[in-house]
Amino acid sequence: MVKVVVVGSINMDLIVRVSRLPRLGETMSGEGFSMGGGGKGANQAVACARLGARVTMAGCVGDDDFGKRLLSDLVSEGMDCAPVRVCPGVNTGVALIAVTKEGENAIILSPGANALACGEDVERAATAMKEAQVALFQLEIPIATVIVGLKKAKEAGCLTVLDPAPAAPLPDEIWPLVDVAAPNEIEAADLGGSDEPAQAALRLLEKGAGCVVVSLGSKGALAVTRDRTFSVPAFPVEVVDTTGAGDAFRAGLAVALAEGKVLEEAVKFGAAAGALTCTALGARSSLPQRSAVLRMLSSSSAR
Ligand code: RIB
Repeated sequence: MVKVVVVGSINMDLIVRVSRLPRLGETMSGEGFSMGGGGKGANQAVACARLGARVTMAGCVGDDDFGKRLLSDLVSEGMDCAPVRVCPGVNTGVALIAVTKEGENAIILSPGANALACGEDVERAATAMKEAQVALFQLEIPIATVIVGLKKAKEAGCLTVLDPAPAAPLPDEIWPLVDVAAPNEIEAADLGGSDEPAQAALRLLEKGAGCVVVSLGSKGALAVTRDRTFSVPAFPVEVVDTTGAGDAFRAGLAVALAEGKVLEEAVKFGAAAGALTCTALGARSSLPQRSAVLRMLSSSSAR
């Protein structure tokens, strides 16, 4: 079994379905309510575990009820959460999520304890990094901590994967530490300075990233390496809620790369995991098991 280390955020997601997003100053009624585990870091960690990797997670929760519940949920997924720190006197990260009837979402984050994640939190995952093939990062914790994590992961011999979400300006020193940059279209444009994903990806390669995989939602994904550029189409599904699809995509990519799959196969594996996540409400509950991803891959290749 391959091993993946995830350093990132842990949130409680509070989800309401809406007919449309509210206007500024407007109060409007939504439909139903659900609450469940979230956070790009924790979602990617859980997705990696469901896709067949041994996972160690590092990050922070508050000493509140959400923190206790989230930590116990992560442990029940079979993950090693020993490096996760419980921070006294601060709230656990919370995401307020509105999901439209088309399945698109808008998210407001209160980072809470995620904002306290620091180099010492990364240090507690250093031993796990020595056994891992891949280390996976996002930007819902301080960027300085992500940089420490990337450096530690490189020292430990891991392949590093960065999901630069939510979009944020990044220092140039980060890119040579990133073996696989996996932005979505918007993040690629912000970071690479072009609305054309291939151009933006080339710019990130010039800055030092090893390769770039841009997720394009219903248009699939585009991968750009120093030798070639290729596209992988999206798997067609009935979309209920896209929340967490990006997390599943990056987790699938990370697990497949950890298993030694070539980039094209790894992007397809991620695309299948992402597509399946769109078929149910919520970020965490919809993350697929490995068997479902393999079924989707084999039924598409049979077509
Ligand atoms: O990527 C989806 C996640 O983004 C949600 O679970 C929410 O917590 C936010 O972090």
